[in-house]
Amino acid sequence: MDTQKAPAGPCAGIGQPTSSWGRRRASLRRSRGLRRVGLACLAFIAYAQWRQIHSSGHPQHPDLTAHGLSIERLRHDLATCTKLHTTPTDPTGSGRDRSARYVEGQRPTLIRNATVWTGEPAEGTSSEEAWAGKGYSWIASDVFLEGGLIKSVAEDIQLSSLPRDVLIYDARGRPLTAGIIDMHSHAGVHSLPTLRGNEDVSELSADITPYVRSLDGIQPMDRQLQVIKSGGVTTSLILPGSSNNIGGEAFVIKHAVGRADGRNETSLRDLLADPGRTWRYMKMGCGENAKHVHGKVGERGPLSRLGESWEFRHAFERASKLRREQDDWCQAASVDLNSVRSYLPYKIEWEALIGVLRGQVHVHVHCYTIPDLEAFVDHTNEFKFPVKAFHHAHQTYLVPEQILKRAWGRDPPASALFADNMWYKAESYIGSEFAGKHLHDHNLTTIYVSDNPVLNAQHVVFEAAKAYRYGLPYHAALASVTSAPAERLGLGQRLGKVISGFDADIVVWDSDPLSVGATPVQVWIDGAAQYESPVELNKPLGNIGTPKGGLSVIRDKSKSIDGVVIFTGISRNLLSESTDDSATKDEKLKVIVSKGKIICVGQCEAEVREMSRSRLTERVHLKDGYLTPPYTAFGSTLGLNAIESESDTDNGDDRDSFSRGIDGLALGTEKLRIASQYGVTRAISAPKFAGINTHHGTSVGFKSSADTALQPNAIFAPDAAVHYTLDLSVKGGRGTASSPSLSATVGTLRHKLLAAVAELAAGGETVITDQFSEKSFLRRVVQGNMTLCLTAHSADMISAVLRVKVDIDDAMSSIKKTENEAKLRLVIVGGAEAHLVARELASARVGVVLSPAFAFGSTWDQRRALTGAPLTNGTGIDILIDSGVMTVIGLEEDWVLRDLGLLAGVVHKNSGGRVGERAAMKLISQNIYQLLGLEMQGDETGFVLHEGSPFEIDSSIKAVAEGNGYVDLY
Ligand SMILES: *[C@@H]1O[C@H](CO)[C@@H](O)[C@H](O)[C@H]1NC(C)=O
Ligand SMILES: *[C@@H]1O[C@H](CO)[C@@H](O)[C@H](O)[C@H]1NC(C)=O
Ligand SMILES: *[C@@H]1O[C@H](CO)[C@@H](O)[C@H](O)[C@H]1NC(C)=O
Repeated sequence: MDTQKAPAGPCAGIGQPTSSWGRRRASLRRSRGLRRVGLACLAFIAYAQWRQIHSSGHPQHPDLTAHGLSIERLRHDLATCTKLHTTPTDPTGSGRDRSARYVEGQRPTLIRNATVWTGEPAEGTSSEEAWAGKGYSWIASDVFLEGGLIKSVAEDIQLSSLPRDVLIYDARGRPLTAGIIDMHSHAGVHSLPTLRGNEDVSELSADITPYVRSLDGIQPMDRQLQVIKSGGVTTSLILPGSSNNIGGEAFVIKHAVGRADGRNETSLRDLLADPGRTWRYMKMGCGENAKHVHGKVGERGPLSRLGESWEFRHAFERASKLRREQDDWCQAASVDLNSVRSYLPYKIEWEALIGVLRGQVHVHVHCYTIPDLEAFVDHTNEFKFPVKAFHHAHQTYLVPEQILKRAWGRDPPASALFADNMWYKAESYIGSEFAGKHLHDHNLTTIYVSDNPVLNAQHVVFEAAKAYRYGLPYHAALASVTSAPAERLGLGQRLGKVISGFDADIVVWDSDPLSVGATPVQVWIDGAAQYESPVELNKPLGNIGTPKGGLSVIRDKSKSIDGVVIFTGISRNLLSESTDDSATKDEKLKVIVSKGKIICVGQCEAEVREMSRSRLTERVHLKDGYLTPPYTAFGSTLGLNAIESESDTDNGDDRDSFSRGIDGLALGTEKLRIASQYGVTRAISAPKFAGINTHHGTSVGFKSSADTALQPNAIFAPDAAVHYTLDLSVKGGRGTASSPSLSATVGTLRHKLLAAVAELAAGGETVITDQFSEKSFLRRVVQGNMTLCLTAHSADMISAVLRVKVDIDDAMSSIKKTENEAKLRLVIVGGAEAHLVARELASARVGVVLSPAFAFGSTWDQRRALTGAPLTNGTGIDILIDSGVMTVIGLEEDWVLRDLGLLAGVVHKNSGGRVGERAAMKLISQNIYQLLGLEMQGDETGFVLHEGSPFEIDSSIKAVAEGNGYVDLY
């Protein structure tokens, strides 16, 4: 079909294969047609040349042409011309007997009784209908795998029709999908735990490095490759980093490494998803990174976005020039090999970038902002190459028509996104969790990615689930991590769907993959089950989602009401201790609110009678309503900055001194506005020590909605706790609070605490004039009047800290012979490895704020984190809770605030019934107050009303009250 409109003469058009390339599809097709014709001509002419050379070669040397060039080398170059002018097409799936990745000896497998999402709409569904979600469903089916391929997907496949050595896997009705594809990962090139010696993510010697390849730095032994697979991810695009404008070649790998894949050895070749290497991939990046990393004033660019565009254009100019020289050479040589005076022009430096211009290399571009996107789209039109996807495409949802659809080529670029990770740098400050839905409404493709290790790619399917929560239709959300990335990688006929002929990359899940806490029970890659004895969570299957339009967790705030509101249809009350935890789910309860305060929960007959008389009473009926406490964000930088990496918006790092969070409070930020909407009405934040998730000074407890710290009730705890950091960031930094070693850090802390004890022992003779000094706070700490929060991850550091607690408690008991012996109130913040000392923490009554909630060994001191089923029996939080340690879910980064309810939901749902709804709710609300010894004051506590369980993906927030005299309705 590509040869339509071929010109009359067989060799017309050779030498100017791009001259007719327009933006429109018709002309694209035509020029492809010209290329095909050109190839045929080249082959014919090469033969004619061969004959010709032998009659008109070099007089003395039969091996040389008249111009003294090696005939053998020229022929080789002419053959290269053929390769240069070949455009790949997506490799097909069907027609294969076995996958090229198949390892001899793997037995065929029948997966029985699964509920299958094939990724394809029902036959006869038009593409418009399919885009809107029609024709998709979960179907009851068996799936037969053989030779590394899906051989059939059908109901009741008869055993008698299968090979005798077939393995049987009973899926017991559980959901089965294609393996998850993560289209943006740095696994292997930034292997974990992060170590300087293993980091190979960006080649920083120059800004334009199209000639480097991620494959050359992938560590197949990176354990994270296995962790990622345990989340059902079978395929990843491993990209170089984004520090360079042109970062180098990327590669698509499968997470089947060595023995787990039935192979005896481990090599990179075995990782390649397409051993035929049909397509190549290139990473480019615009915006903040390159200008910050590469520019040097007066010496080299880029120092601005202006300079970056020049770097791109200059690189493309050079590649275009060389490409033209190659095309001219190929044409001349194909006509008369004796006529050429040089070999084929070729530079390895530009080879891959020329491949981009020849349509052989898929381009993936990291671009956040409108100017970046617009400039890059201009480059695509100036140099005529398509972009497969913009990654970190935070602002594409603002310009779907004006910019994305103006990009060169047939299909507008897809947007590779996080669901709700933002605010960390200026270019990520503007973003929307609703971007996916918005792009989908414009017929544009959205793909959710991890940027592992930015997010743990194990949970990339959770990004898709959240996208669904934020309005992307169900089928599009599932496609966003399966068929959509497969198609963008040029592997859409092999990966991303459960169809016969496709690679047998399959996941059987314990629940709907777009539900909270969904976990694989088995993963197959190339037809081979990856786990011999996977840990399986004890949980009910639950409902498997019916494809529906996206949800909307937040609707626009409709109003703030200071009068009376009667909420009906409440099925669960997770707010007060007094109610029976086994309360019914029959939507019988009412909640009556006046001036933003709850005046009745229950049947409230008398109150309803009385209030109903007032015409001003508002009535809101909820379906399956949940009454919960508001959430508290602990340990983040909320209230202390707006954009993490912009120092003007940030309180700063407090390495050199000990300060109070309240003195740095900066309210009224976008983050805090969103926090209130998401029910996170309170935050407790301490100054940073050295970057996010480190702390130094006293934390302040404040209300998210306050515009200034002087508003009444804005501050509920001026000095909530005393914080020090004892993680890896203490070493080697500048400033008095840094140490050369971890041991010195512990020693300094012990010394400070013992000095505080000594002052007390001296009978308070030392007059402390500044009650806000570090010394004064430490005095309160050793007396047990204030909690000491120590930020640490490693089990070794936590052990050291527990010994310090014994030292201080001993010292205190020697000076205080009272009955109520003061004990140090200690909390560990971070706690990735706390589960290793869970019993000791419990008996010392030390609490833990897990931050992140689910650590994954991203740094050395977190390497023993448990990543959960199917690899480990539970995560750290399960062990801590089982051991009786008071636990809290903290925020390692501010964007996590939107997810607090869902994270508590993961704990609840994956606990095998051990963590009830109320206990899960406390992880993000009351527990922190208990740990810090703070009252969550009655009337000012506030509440949140949800429609649906706040632990489920399809719940939404309907009302938030902060104890400020009114309730916000959504
Ligand atoms: C499939 O599994 C479900 C859940 O275990 C079970 O109820 C059903 O009977 C099974 N069906 C068949 C055909 O085995
Ligand atoms: C792995 O090694 C065993 C024992 O040497 C051998 O029998 C088998 O064929 C090897 N498998 C592969 C896939 O090379
Ligand atoms: C999306 O595609 C449909 C069907 O082709 C079309 O009707 C609709 O106008 C398109 N929407 C946009 C915003 O382009």
